[in-house]
Amino acid sequence: MELEQISQDGAETLKGAAGAAKKVFVKTYGCQMNVYDSQRMSDALAADGYVATSTMEDADLVLLNTCHIREKAAEKVYSEIGRIRELKAERARNGSEMVIGVAGCVAQAEGREIIRRAPAVDLVIGPQTYHRLPEALKKVRGGEKVVETEYALEDKFDHLPEPRRAEIISRGVTAFLTVQEGCDKFCTFCVVPYTRGSEVSRPVAQIVAEAERLAAAGVREVTLLGQNVNAWHGEGPDGNEWGLGRLLVRLAEIPGIARLRYTTSHPRDMDDELIAAHRDLPSLMPYLHLPVQAGSDRILKAMNRKHTAADYLRLIERIRAARPDIAMSGDFIVGFPGETDEDFEATLELVREVNYAQAFSFKYSSRPGTPGTEMKDHVAEEVKDERLQRLQALLNEQQTTFIEGLVGKTVETLIEKPGRQPKQIVGRSPWLLPVILDENAGKIGEIVTARITSTGHASLFAERA
Ligand code: 5AD
Ligand code: SF4
Repeated sequence: MELEQISQDGAETLKGAAGAAKKVFVKTYGCQMNVYDSQRMSDALAADGYVATSTMEDADLVLLNTCHIREKAAEKVYSEIGRIRELKAERARNGSEMVIGVAGCVAQAEGREIIRRAPAVDLVIGPQTYHRLPEALKKVRGGEKVVETEYALEDKFDHLPEPRRAEIISRGVTAFLTVQEGCDKFCTFCVVPYTRGSEVSRPVAQIVAEAERLAAAGVREVTLLGQNVNAWHGEGPDGNEWGLGRLLVRLAEIPGIARLRYTTSHPRDMDDELIAAHRDLPSLMPYLHLPVQAGSDRILKAMNRKHTAADYLRLIERIRAARPDIAMSGDFIVGFPGETDEDFEATLELVREVNYAQAFSFKYSSRPGTPGTEMKDHVAEEVKDERLQRLQALLNEQQTTFIEGLVGKTVETLIEKPGRQPKQIVGRSPWLLPVILDENAGKIGEIVTARITSTGHASLFAERA
């Protein structure tokens, strides 16, 4: 789930009459939603005459799409700005300009404070106002420092630029599609309800239109995104209220779309229809990221998760009854305030019961403005370290067992891109694990049956079956 990557979106070159195109370098931190947002920002900027560059040094605009989820993620942004400030100063000495923009959740959470702390920053723009990016840049070019974090709820999805064919093609045969934003759950450790605002669902017609555009440009696998994606709901064309399960049924009908996924889900929003979709839709991949965070009911209550460990286990049982081969993924936090050894043991016990194919685990990080910060009995850093190590050892063991269990099996693999080594091609398994094949195994966009021959580090080696 977590990733840090440099986005190199293939924005179309738009050299206007005014001369050479301006160059933008976008760096994306955090979750898949930020990856999607960076693409939408690149789209908006392409329409404004910018081309993407993969080197920061020659960019006219450096845009950091930031993450605020844990303290470390937020601090990384400031150290990166420090580095870019040097580049900006060097450019100024050579008589050219470099604009620095901070977008994403740190922008939303800290606003003008970013410019106070890092005066080299010209623009701060929150995730709900990206459609105003070209206008904001115009003001920056006029010499203003701009902070754009105010928005109206109904603004959320209305003004997003549509992805263009050339850009979709340049991004490959898998794509993200945001269907929901924001969170009303208010887990006591989490900044998301404050940075991304309350839950808003994108209308069915917009989602279907975007999925059709993706399919028409060759996309075979679509991952629906939302901070609480399974809280998505909307009015269907039949006049009925749809939930995510029904939406998936509709999207599965789009010719060309062979695979569907959704992330991230909250256990409380896994309704019967969504579980049934796992049974009924062959294109819905048998992999589910369903964070539980902890295994102790006392801690789950303090986290305001609104479910118990037994509720979660029962839910997994029902999902597995619907789709027996489903591989489970989760998120965990160790060292939440007040977590005792016994509470932590309950987390280990839950992990043993579920048996995860994949998981992400973090040390609790106190976030300003969240209720967790005010709680008593914060756990010592060494204790958090030790618990994280033990939890990760167990999760790694389960992940290894899962991966090794695949050797000798045949899996449907979506051929995605050329491999790092010559004569190799990389595909995607139903569980997201990359599958490495001989380049003749299939064409990009094809789904082939592959037999797993051996495993690498979080990857699979296979031959065409
Ligand atoms: N400290 C540690 N981990 C956190 N997460 C969210 N907030 C915090 C925090 N304050 C983790 C949760 C969530 C994932 C995206 O990040 O596990 O599911
Ligand atoms: Fe954060 Fe909880 Fe909302 Fe997930 S459900 S985004 S962890 S508040």
